[in-house]
Amino acid sequence: MFPIQRPRRLRSHPQLRRMVRETVLTTSDLIYPLFAVPGTGIAKEVKSMPGVYQLSVDKIVEDAKEVYDLGIPGIILFGIPEDKDTDATGAWHDCGIVQKAATAVKEAVPDLIVVADTCLCEYTSHGHCGYLQVGDLSGRVLNDPTLELLKKTAVSQAKAGADIIAPSGMMDGFVQAIRAGLDEAGFQDTPILSYAAKYASAYYGPFRDAAESTPQFGDRRTYQMDPGNAREAIKEIELDIAEGADMLMVKPALAYMDIIWRVKEASNLPVAAYNVSGEYSMIKAAALNGWIDEERVVMETLTSFKRAGADLILTYHAKDAARWLR
Ligand code: PBG
Ligand code: ZN
Repeated sequence: MFPIQRPRRLRSHPQLRRMVRETVLTTSDLIYPLFAVPGTGIAKEVKSMPGVYQLSVDKIVEDAKEVYDLGIPGIILFGIPEDKDTDATGAWHDCGIVQKAATAVKEAVPDLIVVADTCLCEYTSHGHCGYLQVGDLSGRVLNDPTLELLKKTAVSQAKAGADIIAPSGMMDGFVQAIRAGLDEAGFQDTPILSYAAKYASAYYGPFRDAAESTPQFGDRRTYQMDPGNAREAIKEIELDIAEGADMLMVKPALAYMDIIWRVKEASNLPVAAYNVSGEYSMIKAAALNGWIDEERVVMETLTSFKRAGADLILTYHAKDAARWLR
């Protein structure tokens, strides 16, 4: 008889567990999302996201410094414009809110990587991620006219100082269109982080409070993916790779660990996971009730994204995690 196998031997001491740990989360893995609003001196907490604020540009700069001092390599910027219209003017205008925030952050903290979320939903009066036929209340976004607006948006974000362009609207051909736009404008070296596999998810609820981007009618199911589909995610990433994406994102993360894994297996590009607003708020709510140990649950969750194949994690927990990792 063989002696019984004893994997517990390697779990008997904390240092031994440390030696054989396969996945280690580091601060370098994190990207912190920030929401920019017009005005000065504004820090307005998002009701459904305790600890997350809409910040005016001056406050964004303060936060960006803190993020940098914590050792987090980058932020992703979202914007809430003064006015919304059918052409999403606030998205592509050179004086847009994300453009202002990007410029101010790069001036104050040049070594912090600024990712710009490139989408129209925060800037359109109807809240959809693209262009609609005027008077169309079906919410059926017109793909190719939207590409033109996304291209303009990406170029103006790059001009304002954004280091990475992250298109999130799930339009067909958006990586190709944005790549062409950036190249024509002289931004050949600006990488594209494509929200390649983005699902039509109820987990975005709190974000839509934060970004004031809830669609006024219809929903996003004609452009974001159906939660039942996995092979389709591979098709989406293959297209984005062919179109020139430099990095791929899976979103949401927690309920889509299998997709993170499959995307990692199917490509050689860095994979990012977006730990979205609803995932954050669920942990926050339970922690505030004293039902779970926030630090342990957050660290376990983030480590698991990495184990599933994520190289980067966009998360509202980033500042807390960086402090706990110190
Ligand atoms: C907009 C966008 C969304 C998120 C990031 N970019 C929301 C949406 O599609 O409605 C969600 C982020 C989050 O929930 O934290 N295209
Ligand atoms: Zn959008």
